[in-house]
Amino acid sequence: MDRTLVLEFVRVTESAAIACSHLVGRGQKDAADARAVQAMRQAFDRVPVRGTVVIGEGERDEAPMLYIGEKVGPQRDSLPEVDIAVDPLEGTNLCAEGASGALAVLAVAERGALLNAPDTYMEKLACGPIGHGVVSLQRSPTENVRALASAKGCKVSEIAVVVLERDRHRALIDELRSAGARVFLISDGDVAPAVATCMPESSIDMVYGTGGAPEGVLAASALKCMGGFFQGRLRFRNDGERERAIGMGMENPDAYLDMSDLVRGEVIFCATGVTSGPLLKGVRRIGDRLHLQTLSMRSSTGTIRTVDSVVKAARFSDLYAG
Ligand code: FBP
Repeated sequence: MDRTLVLEFVRVTESAAIACSHLVGRGQKDAADARAVQAMRQAFDRVPVRGTVVIGEGERDEAPMLYIGEKVGPQRDSLPEVDIAVDPLEGTNLCAEGASGALAVLAVAERGALLNAPDTYMEKLACGPIGHGVVSLQRSPTENVRALASAKGCKVSEIAVVVLERDRHRALIDELRSAGARVFLISDGDVAPAVATCMPESSIDMVYGTGGAPEGVLAASALKCMGGFFQGRLRFRNDGERERAIGMGMENPDAYLDMSDLVRGEVIFCATGVTSGPLLKGVRRIGDRLHLQTLSMRSSTGTIRTVDSVVKAARFSDLYAG
């Protein structure tokens, strides 16, 4: 993929972040999500690709825009064909409640390179580069924190694991704490901490547990760019979801999914902060300007950029009603 596309995709996540930012803290998660989706959809029209959404807002009948299978971009024959994974507002509750860490996120890979999966759940284990050959969902949480501590040359009590605070994670949290690890509970938003496992200054060693499958593919894309470890396994809520996964080409929908099953070949990842968090600053209005921060990465080079943009709010009056 042409490297100049990276900046085009930065503009796409920036647009989504701007569009939902004036609803930060307003308690309107669906409206915020809808604004981000619409803005991201429109922004794709200006990106020179023939894109297909493979991870999106849901199935065609339940999502008016950015649904799985939707074509985005100008679709001219001369343009590169790409797979697109999107989460226009990752952390809808975080945005609605004005809590930290809401993002606008996407990943782009060559056509056929991203996992095609229904909008279901995924058991996930994310870790920095040191996790390769050390941790695995096939091992117990106790074995994993011990193995990671040993690989890092530290005590288990120094291992920090981020887990979504959900009833389904009670046993996982109890086991991690019994093993001696430190567990940091989050209310929402498991993409940002997964990315942070590759940033030593974040002090996050692992993200563990079950969350959204789309967020899993997005996190895997980011970790591929950063050399991190990611493993997943789809967790279906019903037989219909499992059958849809089979219909989408998954031979064994219950298989453990390694990085090469989730993201093949080159991938581009972009995330713009909506609310400020450990990974990125959110959208801030200062005078007549909007200040934005985006993380952009490309797996082929491993380059990681933080892009700080300052734009005139008036130029985005169609997106930004604040
Ligand atoms: P949304 O932005 O779609 O609300 O997702 C937020 C999120 O917290 C994800 O980061 C996470 O993977 C998923 O929801 C967990 O799902 P659930 O809230 O159903 O446990």
